[in-house]
Amino acid sequence: MSEQKNSGLYHERREFFNERAERWLDLCYLDPATEQHSLHDPQFARLFEEVKVPADGVVLDVGCGSGVVVPYILPLLSPTARLVEVDYAEKMIAENRRLHRDPRISFMACDALAIDLPPGSVDMALCFSCFPHFEDKPAVVKGLANLLRNGGQLVIAHFNSAHELNHHHRKFGPVQHDMLPDEMTMRAMIADAGLALECFIDQSGFYLIKAWK
Ligand SMILES: C[S@@+](CC[C@H](N)C(=O)[O-])C[C@H]1O[C@@H](n2cnc3c(N)ncnc32)[C@H](O)[C@@H]1O
Repeated sequence: MSEQKNSGLYHERREFFNERAERWLDLCYLDPATEQHSLHDPQFARLFEEVKVPADGVVLDVGCGSGVVVPYILPLLSPTARLVEVDYAEKMIAENRRLHRDPRISFMACDALAIDLPPGSVDMALCFSCFPHFEDKPAVVKGLANLLRNGGQLVIAHFNSAHELNHHHRKFGPVQHDMLPDEMTMRAMIADAGLALECFIDQSGFYLIKAWK
């Protein structure tokens, strides 16, 4: 067990997400006009224009929460593809499982550093709206790179710029120090994990890193 998992903050942060699991989609994605979780439909459309999901592959949705991305990814997958939903907050996984019953989905309640899949077995690892919360970011990037097959893709995405996101997190106790590192640090982290960066976008309302193994 690594030092970070013994730290009080690690548990506090996980409880912060557990406590919000059943309300997460309402809190973050509810469009009051339609009363659907469609607030960010245009940004998801852009994300999956920029990122080509491997239709027949294994897609890992790391820090998946209650599965906001699931309805956007499933239509892009063939009947034999797999979507693996991973989150360390067990209540997020329970809510995700309750909402999404497609046989292509499997669920793992575990830390991003402890994903029990064979090395080289993943086609795409997506970190949507979760990267700042990982305590040991270089280790997560290296771990995910190890799970990717050669030619597989790591995607880190947010619907904020790094500056907007870091400002947003400062308002919430246990995640107030959870920051997206600056561009130079992110580039170095990706290179150190043996990945080739294809795309780095950091603009108001949209952040995207695409890197290949
Ligand atoms: C801001 S929420 C986003 C959830 C989801 N991706 C969404 O956009 O609705 C961040 C998620 O990352 C998860 N998370 C944070 N640190 C993690 C870790 N070390 N391992 C696995 N999941 C983690 C949290 O439990 C939480 O569900």
